[in-house]
This record gives sequence, C-alpha cells and structure tokens, in this order.
Amino acid sequence: MAQPGRLHRGDNLDYMSTLPAGSCDLIYADPPFFADHRSRNSRGCFADAWTGGMDAYLAFLRARLEQMHRLLGERGSLYVHLDCHAVHYVKVILDEVFGRRNFLNEIVWHYRTGGVARRWFGRKHDTLLLYAKKRGSHTFHVLREGRYRTDGLRYDEQDRPFKQTRGGRLYFNPDGPAMTDVWDVPFLSTVSLERTGWPSQKPEALLERVILASSDPGDTVGDFFCGSGTTLVVAKRHGREVLGCDVAPEAVRIAQDRLDRVLPLCTART
Ligand SMILES: C[S@@+](CC[C@H](N)C(=O)[O-])C[C@H]1O[C@@H](n2cnc3c(N)ncnc32)[C@H](O)[C@@H]1O
Repeated sequence: MAQPGRLHRGDNLDYMSTLPAGSCDLIYADPPFFADHRSRNSRGCFADAWTGGMDAYLAFLRARLEQMHRLLGERGSLYVHLDCHAVHYVKVILDEVFGRRNFLNEIVWHYRTGGVARRWFGRKHDTLLLYAKKRGSHTFHVLREGRYRTDGLRYDEQDRPFKQTRGGRLYFNPDGPAMTDVWDVPFLSTVSLERTGWPSQKPEALLERVILASSDPGDTVGDFFCGSGTTLVVAKRHGREVLGCDVAPEAVRIAQDRLDRVLPLCTART
C-alpha cells in the first residue's frame, strides 16, 4: 500500500500492481535506455542503460506500460522518455496499449552536450512520447515561451505586441508564443547545483514543462522509474501529490532526501 510522500524501493511492476486503477493523473516514465553491445547511448556512456537485448527490453517495458495505462484516471497522460535506439519500437507498443487515437505528441528534447560524431550527425536529442488515457478528456495547459519572430511586430502603450493589418490591430498573446513539441532545455552540466550524483538525473526545467502542461494542483503525479526523484520534487513544489518508486536503494535514498526538503510554492500559480 502506498504511503503519501514515501517512496517505494523495489521493482515497479510489483509496486504498480498493488495500486488501485486510476491512482494517477500524470505519469512520467524514464526507463533505462536501450543500448546494444556496440552502441553507446546518447550521452556516450552505458550508465543506467539496458544491455539485455531488444526483445527482452520491449517485453520489460510492455508489462510496465500496461500497468501505467491501468493506473491513469480518465484525465490522465503518460510521458515516456526514450532515445533513438528504442523509441520507434516502443511507440508501436504504446499505440497498442493506449490506442493510436490517444497519441498526442512526439516531443524532441534538444540539448547541447560536448562530443563530436565523426561517422554520423551528432545525437543531441531525446524523445518524449505523450499519450492521453482518453484524448479529449485529458488535462492540458498551453505553455508559452520565447519571443514572436513575426515581421512588423509592434508594441502598444501597455507593451502588448500587435501587428497592424488592414482591418486594424491584430494582438498577440503578451506571454509569448505557445510552446511547440521541440524543447530546448539545457542538459545538466557536471557542475550544476541540481546534481545529486545519480547518473541519469534529468533537469528540473524539463519536468517543470511536463507537470505544468499536464496536471493541476492537487493531482497525483507518478514516477515509477524515479531515479534521483526529479519529477517528484518538481511535482511537490507545484502542489501535486506524488507516488514514486525505484529498484535501486541509493536512488530511493537520494530521491526521498530531496523530496523531504521541498517546500511547495504558493499555489496561486499552476
Ligand atoms: C533513467 S533513470 C531515471 C532518472 C530520473 N528521471 C532522474 O531524474 O533521476 C531510470 C531508473 O529506473 C530504475 N529502474 C530500472 N529498472 C527498474 C525497475 N524494474 N523498477 C523500478 N525502477 C527501475 C533505475 O534504477 C534508474 O534509477
């Protein structure tokens, strides 16, 4: 049985099967990346990568994705974080488990890391596949970032952007353009203050987008491959309830320690 705010240590398949259907409003899954015996993963290392073969990898994931589907409520969504070695195979499984109609986005997380490829283009992105439990009922908030690149953009007395057209002023949203499915978020540098020492830790800025777009304060966010707990930390900070698990005792220790130190932000902002 899940205890609020306490992370579970153990295999996520066993843990998820103890939870009631509909327990989560949002799940982020960041499983070990697939790496075959010749290829290195996109960060050029094998840390936290699967080396047991593609068939076994896909069977491992399918069982867990089926549980995640069961755990999502009607408004829920799932993000699955993968790289180029397995994403296309896993997409086919997700289409079967969630139904092709419920596929929402293939999000490209683009980053700039060191290392130069000599035999192919440098691999500088991961992919997040986004599915709704039931498209149309799912929670989604448009996020905005950056600046408009429209020719002839002007600003009125209140600094609101507009374009002069024959029919009058065409106003643009002052918070900037709607975010697209290509996300430029810096990779965690080796000296980042966020670093916990867990090898596959993701940046909080990446998870912030996931949580703010696809959940509301008070919702329950699950991460059953939680590693250092990035998702859970960001979710708690934004007033969400969390459910988390990892098979590695050290990951659970780091994640629980991080989580216990988080103070929720004032929830006026979602
Ligand atoms: C890519 S890492 C997640 C990193 C995390 N997003 C973060 O920001 O730190 C994948 C995690 O899955 C965990 N893991 C692998 N197999 C698992 C299983 N069967 N059950 C639970 N956790 C598992 C690993 O221990 C590892 O911490």
